[in-house]
Amino acid sequence: MQDRIVDIRQKFEESFGCQPTTVVRAPGRVNLIGEHTDYNDGYVLPVAIDLSILMAAAPRPDRQVVLHALDFEQRTEFSLDDIQHDAQYPWSDYQRGVAFFLQERGFELPGVNAVISGDIPVGSGLSSSAAVEVAAAYTWQVLSGFPLSRVRLALLCQQAENEFVGMKCGIMDQFISTLGQRDHALLIDCRTLEHEAVNLPWRSSRTRSAPAERETSFATPRGEFSSTRLGAGEGAPRPPATIVVCDTMKRRGLVDSEYNARRRECEEGMRLLQKHLPRIKALRDISPAQFERYQGDLPEVVRRRCRHIVYENERVLQSVEALRGNDLATFGRLMNDSHISLRDDYQVSCQELNVMVEAAWQVEGVYGSRLTGAGFGGCTVSLVAGEAVEPFRAHVAAEYQAATGIEPQIYVCAVEDGVSEVLVSSS
Ligand code: GLA
Repeated sequence: MQDRIVDIRQKFEESFGCQPTTVVRAPGRVNLIGEHTDYNDGYVLPVAIDLSILMAAAPRPDRQVVLHALDFEQRTEFSLDDIQHDAQYPWSDYQRGVAFFLQERGFELPGVNAVISGDIPVGSGLSSSAAVEVAAAYTWQVLSGFPLSRVRLALLCQQAENEFVGMKCGIMDQFISTLGQRDHALLIDCRTLEHEAVNLPWRSSRTRSAPAERETSFATPRGEFSSTRLGAGEGAPRPPATIVVCDTMKRRGLVDSEYNARRRECEEGMRLLQKHLPRIKALRDISPAQFERYQGDLPEVVRRRCRHIVYENERVLQSVEALRGNDLATFGRLMNDSHISLRDDYQVSCQELNVMVEAAWQVEGVYGSRLTGAGFGGCTVSLVAGEAVEPFRAHVAAEYQAATGIEPQIYVCAVEDGVSEVLVSSS
């Protein structure tokens, strides 16, 4: 990370002839469980990871925003007085959308010179676009100091993606990139936006902090959870384990149209179930018992979509309990069940993801493995016992390459904080 920061400062100086006044880091994310539940007002359990977007910036005296994307070696600019889409450099629509909605909220933004660079593979389902939005919004906040809570910052970035870029994503990605906590997953209630950091009860070779003990509680419709979070080395022994992300290298071609189709199918299911349950507002309100009672009235495809959402929400809550009980076996089984449900009921998997997950399931020491993110390509997430990481890498890479002819990328991930300014000396 330090090298990347030094590098981006240097590139900024080469580009603009002075030092940046800030460097902001916004992380990508991996969702441990709770897929496609966010836009159904449900629960998700993502982590922010140590792949990130860096944005080095300095204010300008005028109203121009000059963006230099190092990874594309492209440069574009726009005026804060006339924010349009950029057909030639569509990567800048994320910053344009963020600036548009910050100004619409009445914040006075300075013009900016910025250099942007990332190590989150683009289109791989690790939320590089959310990280770009969050980096831009936070950079403007650092430069002009406007008052906006982290939750509101995440919502504004989602609005930029929904209404300016035109992707109807839920809130998960922007939320975790903004509010993630090192060595914790974030349980997010996507209806109320209540959120709670859940300690990861394993000892990772890449764990870097020992969080303090804290008592916490989180109310859900099915009762109140409470827990004591223990820092590394405290309380029960923590097994060594690691989050491993495997990139199929298949880019998510169909994702926009299929994603929107799934949203429509969920809405249809909700409307049909409202005939029996008039007070429900989203699929999140339906318990498994209610679903089983009324599912016969749903058309086949809609029934499958609804079944995934109803049980996936349950799995998220059960996963949190499993994590709190240090029960990695149950947590892993829930990850596997999630994959099967996404494959068979929600139908957002693909051959490459299934091959990768099935190869992972074969390795001794793998607690669980599933596709992560929207699906249709991108990445899988696996929880792997510490001593099994190298055999895992070797087996999964070989099996995947033999079946698809593609060499995968495999990342052993550390769990990081959400967006922050990264301060380094300029020497
Ligand atoms: C994408 C979206 C998220 C979420 C996931 C699926 O990453 O941006 O809001 O819906 O897909 O869980």
